[in-house]
Amino acid sequence: MTRLIVATVCLTAATLMADTKPLIIAHRGASDQAPENTLAAAELAWRQQADGIEGDFYLTADGHIVCIHDKTTQRTTGIDRRVDRSTLAELQALDAGAFKGPQYVGQRIPTLDQWLDTAPSEGLFILEVKSGPELIAPLKTRLAARPALRQRIRIISFNDAVIRESKRLLPDIPAWLLISYKQNKETGTWTPTLQQMLDKLKACGADGLDTHANPQVITPAFVAALRQAGYALHCWTINDPAAARQFAELGFDSITTNRPAEMRRALTK
Ligand code: G3P
Ligand code: CA
Repeated sequence: MTRLIVATVCLTAATLMADTKPLIIAHRGASDQAPENTLAAAELAWRQQADGIEGDFYLTADGHIVCIHDKTTQRTTGIDRRVDRSTLAELQALDAGAFKGPQYVGQRIPTLDQWLDTAPSEGLFILEVKSGPELIAPLKTRLAARPALRQRIRIISFNDAVIRESKRLLPDIPAWLLISYKQNKETGTWTPTLQQMLDKLKACGADGLDTHANPQVITPAFVAALRQAGYALHCWTINDPAAARQFAELGFDSITTNRPAEMRRALTK
């Protein structure tokens, strides 16, 4: 009888694990439908039951942290301003929603606090630091004011100096290094190599890898090597159901997508 109960509990736990992994992270919010990195995209992602939302962050000229992907506002607002040379008031005077359709007119470039205010009772915030390591000290100040959210924050960056600074000032917050790959046209080989990547992760103190979902690089052997070295494994940007299933089978902890509802359906079938 006891054995039956234990077996049932284990089966239920295994089923739950299978259902919850990989986590579905909405890339710049639910950015396929709503304007990326706006509150509309964040709120839509939560409504679509994303496990977390990813957003991109820069420091403004007057020291605020704002959510926008590019160095300038041209692509998403139609007006060309350098984010790091503009004040928050100048940036928030721009319309960051109209480019996606008339229903989004009036969306603004959010501050980090406005972005975090979209939080439901659970769910992760994946903060991509697009500025350099100088963003981490002000980020520490902002997060200190929101202790209840702290365990739900993750920091990602392509810049290993950002990861290093993050682990120095915010050691309890998981930090994942972003990596993308280049192929040598003559030899066909991809860089960084697995070993170069492992060396870089170790040198900056990252807790995990957040990799471009390149199926030519990401093999079972690649995953095994990263796991053996103790790293969490995340990937971006997957919008195709078959690719989502492939990376789920490889054992990734999360997949980042512009289409959280569609990827959820693909993985629960
Ligand atoms: O989630 C990581 C991914 O967002 C990195 O690329 O250019 O979309 O910021 P990018
Ligand atoms: Ca990003």
